[in-house]
Amino acid sequence: MRCPPSFGSNFLEMWEKISQPAIIHTASHAIMANSPFASLFGYVRPEDVHDRSMGEFFSPWPSSTPKVGTRTILGRRKNGTSLDVEITTVPFPCGDRLLFQSVVRDISQLRSWEGRLLQSERITAMGRLAGEIAHEINNPLGGILLYANLIKDDLMPGSTARMNLEKIIKLATRCRIIAKGLLNFGRSSSRAYSPVDLNRVIVEIFSMIEDHRLLKDVEVDMRLAEELPHIMADKGQMEQVVLNLLINAGEAMGGQGRVLIETRLSPDGKEIKVVVQDSGPGIPKEIMSRIFEPFFTTKQPGHGTGLGLSITLGIVQRHGGKIDISNPAGGGARFEVTLPVSGSGG
Ligand SMILES: Nc1ncnc2c1ncn2[C@@H]1O[C@H](COP(=O)(O)OP(=O)(O)OP(=O)(O)O)[C@@H](O)[C@H]1O
Ligand SMILES: [Mg+2]
Repeated sequence: MRCPPSFGSNFLEMWEKISQPAIIHTASHAIMANSPFASLFGYVRPEDVHDRSMGEFFSPWPSSTPKVGTRTILGRRKNGTSLDVEITTVPFPCGDRLLFQSVVRDISQLRSWEGRLLQSERITAMGRLAGEIAHEINNPLGGILLYANLIKDDLMPGSTARMNLEKIIKLATRCRIIAKGLLNFGRSSSRAYSPVDLNRVIVEIFSMIEDHRLLKDVEVDMRLAEELPHIMADKGQMEQVVLNLLINAGEAMGGQGRVLIETRLSPDGKEIKVVVQDSGPGIPKEIMSRIFEPFFTTKQPGHGTGLGLSITLGIVQRHGGKIDISNPAGGGARFEVTLPVSGSGG
C-alpha cells in the first residue's frame, strides 16, 4: 500500500467504499476511520474517531509497534460496552512515517453462536448422564414394584395396610414413568402418540399426589373445561408435565396456599391451554430466563435436580407446544402450557 497523497479526495472516495470497518492509524493514534468503523464502535461520524488513542477502541493496545497480521482482540464501543473483533493490520510507509491500516471484523455474533453450540453440546452430555442415572434407578424400581405386588396379594382387600401399599405401588409406578422420561431426555421425539384426555390426566395425577405433604394443606381450585377434545400425545409424558408443575407449585408455596389448575380450549378449537398457578412467591425476575435450563435449581443441594422444568419444556416442545410463564398481579407464579390438539403443532 502506498501513502495516500495527503489523503486527497480520490483517496477519501475510495476509502469510503471499503465496506468493512477500517481505520488508518499511527502506532498509537487514529488518523482516520470509515463510516462502518465509526458505526461499529458507536460513533455518529467517522470524524468523531480521528485523533483518538487506539487504546480507546481496542484493549489491550500495545504501547510500542502494533502487531502486524490478524488477531482477535477486545473492541470497546463509545458507550463502554465491549465486542469481540478480529483485526488485520498492515503497515505502509507514508513519507518518513510508518502508518498502519487495520480492517476490523465483528465476531461477537460468531462467539455467541459458538457459545450456544457449546451449551447445546453440554445439554446433550447432561441428557446422556441423566439417561444413565435413570437407567440405574429404573431397575431397582422394578424390584420394588415386584415385591410390593407380592405382598399386596397376601393382604386383606380393603385393609389399611393394603391401601397404603397400593399407594406405594402407584408412586413407584410414577417414579418409573419419570425415570423412563429421563431415559428419553436428550433423545429426539418418540412418536408413541395416542388420543389423551388432559382433564383425566390432571385428575389422575392429582388424586395420586393430593396426600403428599406438599399439597395436603393446599387449597386446589380445579377449573377443567367441559368437553375438552382429546389431544394426540404421549400420555406418560403428559402426566410428567402435570406432575412437575404441581410439585413445583407445592414446593414454591412450602405446602401452604392456593393452586389453580385450569384447562381451556382455544376459540378455534386447535389448541388446549393447561394453566397451573400458585400463590407462592413467584419467580424472581433475574432467574426467569434460566428456569428451563437443565440442572438450574434454587433449591438446597439434595432437594432439587433442576431437571423438572427442562424435561417439561422438552416434552411440550416435542408435542409442538409452548410454555409461558408469568407472575400474575395477585402474586404467585403462573405456568401456561399450550398444546396443539393435533399433537404436532400442525
Ligand atoms: N411455581 C414456581 N414458583 C416459583 N419458582 C419456581 C416455580 N417453579 C419453578 N421455579 C423455579 O425454577 C427452578 C427450576 O425448576 P425445576 O422444576 O426445573 O427444578 P427444581 O424444582 O429446582 O428441581 P426438581 O424439579 O429436579 O426437583 C426452581 O428451582 C425454582 O427456582
Ligand atoms: Mg421441579
